[in-house]
Amino acid sequence: MPEKREVYRCEACGNIVEVLEGGGADLVCCGEEMLLLEEKTADEGKEKHVPIVGVVNETDILVRVGSNPHPMEEKHYIQWIDAFDGKDSHRHYLKPGQDPETVFQNMGSQVKVREYCNLHGLWSA
Ligand SMILES: [Fe+2]
Repeated sequence: MPEKREVYRCEACGNIVEVLEGGGADLVCCGEEMLLLEEKTADEGKEKHVPIVGVVNETDILVRVGSNPHPMEEKHYIQWIDAFDGKDSHRHYLKPGQDPETVFQNMGSQVKVREYCNLHGLWSA
């Protein structure tokens, strides 16, 4: 059953949704059950995806994608980065050509960050 913050994709049309609140029934799109995107946490291969959190100062954190900066090309880029402290969530959308990073308000030590690569899916730290 879908749970809060899970991300699902429709393999037919490409719709991507995040669950704000689970209601009990499976998510269906284009007549098929949507695919739950697993949060990957270990890098593999040449491109690096695991987000890295750095403290900028008391009020801000910097989240970078990849121990080597991830590509930000039209066909392959980081679409968004989000941060969640167990209560509030923030999401920043990125575009090709930008750096694969963003600055969030410092949400404390419990913050969990994720990112979505248009080719390689969902990753978390
Ligand atoms: Fe990627």
